[in-house]
Amino acid sequence: MTLDSLQLLFFKNYEAASLQFTPGLNCFIGDNGSGKTNLLDAVHYLSLSKSALTPIDGNSIKQGADFFVVKGNFRADADDAPETIQVSLRQGQKKVLTHDKQPYERMADHIGRYPAVLISPYDTDLIREGSEERRKYFDSLLSQFDHGFLDVLIAYNALLRQRNALLKQAAERPSQGFDRDYLLAIDDQLAPLGEQLSEQRAVFIERFTPLFQQHYQQLADGRESVSLTYRSQLLETEFGQLLRQNERRDFVMQRTTAGAHRDDFVFLLDGLPVKGYASQGQQKSYAIALKLAQFEILTLRAAALGTAATKPLLLLDDIFDRLDDKRIARLLELVANDTFGQVFLTDTNLARTDRALANVQAPIRRFSVQAGTVIQL
Ligand SMILES: Nc1ncnc2c1ncn2[C@@H]1O[C@H](COP(=O)(O)OP(=O)(O)OP(=O)(O)O)[C@@H](O)[C@H]1O
Ligand SMILES: [Mg+2]
Repeated sequence: MTLDSLQLLFFKNYEAASLQFTPGLNCFIGDNGSGKTNLLDAVHYLSLSKSALTPIDGNSIKQGADFFVVKGNFRADADDAPETIQVSLRQGQKKVLTHDKQPYERMADHIGRYPAVLISPYDTDLIREGSEERRKYFDSLLSQFDHGFLDVLIAYNALLRQRNALLKQAAERPSQGFDRDYLLAIDDQLAPLGEQLSEQRAVFIERFTPLFQQHYQQLADGRESVSLTYRSQLLETEFGQLLRQNERRDFVMQRTTAGAHRDDFVFLLDGLPVKGYASQGQQKSYAIALKLAQFEILTLRAAALGTAATKPLLLLDDIFDRLDDKRIARLLELVANDTFGQVFLTDTNLARTDRALANVQAPIRRFSVQAGTVIQL
């Protein structure tokens, strides 16, 4: 699958932009703050209907404007007709996502159809931040991997919100009494969904881990051993039982304190937590290996489904700046040996990019980015 073209209107620091891409490597070159990462984020929007940088869509509307549009033409294969994906948002309204001008009934139906993997300087946040970041990351990946998972996740989150609202209401308005039957009715539905989430995450991590370990070994020359484990109370105790055990506490805390929304993923390097023990370089390698494994597992999935769209788009943000030469060389080996499909990368220095890509056979297109304008070089 390739993205043939991209059009922006009032998106971040762009008033209007129109770009034609090569199926090979597309390089965005420009100074700090010129809008390179914003272009990758626009591609991210087309793939996942959301920004990689901000959870608030309104932030992506250009300052002073009242809407944004991001539009892209994808092609499954060179001779297939293009498919147009458009994401738009008007201030204060709901985001609209269309496929060939038809709005999706559910945003979720789009997820996984045009996969993209972003490798960015923020990836190490996955290691340093709390469990929520990691859950979000793996849930988003699993949702692209398996649509059934996303459906269960959406249903689970909706019930969880209802349950938490009930607990809060009971605490805030004790005079109205507490409808325990309603709580039990929610729990009857919540329990099987939570168990499904945990099971699916466990199965996924088992498939994912060997791919991840292999990529880490390649990046780091096999010096250390890494592991990745999934931790969930639900793998040991039935969720229904757990909800009963925690009912009093939930009541006091006014929220659901145990469940699939509290699971975590534990990152280890030579048996020790990556956060706190691993060096910065090791943390970077760990994070990149996660992303490369993500790329591989999405590729394997597409191949298994027999879709023409075999490879996700690869978005490489600032890699030359943040990685040492050895790791860049290893990444570019993967670019050169056709592991990847279409690639989009950013850098501040054209000469450095050209040097790094000197041995790449795939077609290369360069774009100069300057304060919200792009021109093809
Ligand atoms: N909603 C918005 N409206 C206007 N400008 C915005 C908006 N959101 C972000 N920007 C601007 O976009 C610019 C940042 O763009 P971007 O992150 O793409 O830069 P970059 O070229 O990747 O820079 P660097 O090399 O530092 O990573 C900043 O100047 C920022 O103020
Ligand atoms: Mg940037």
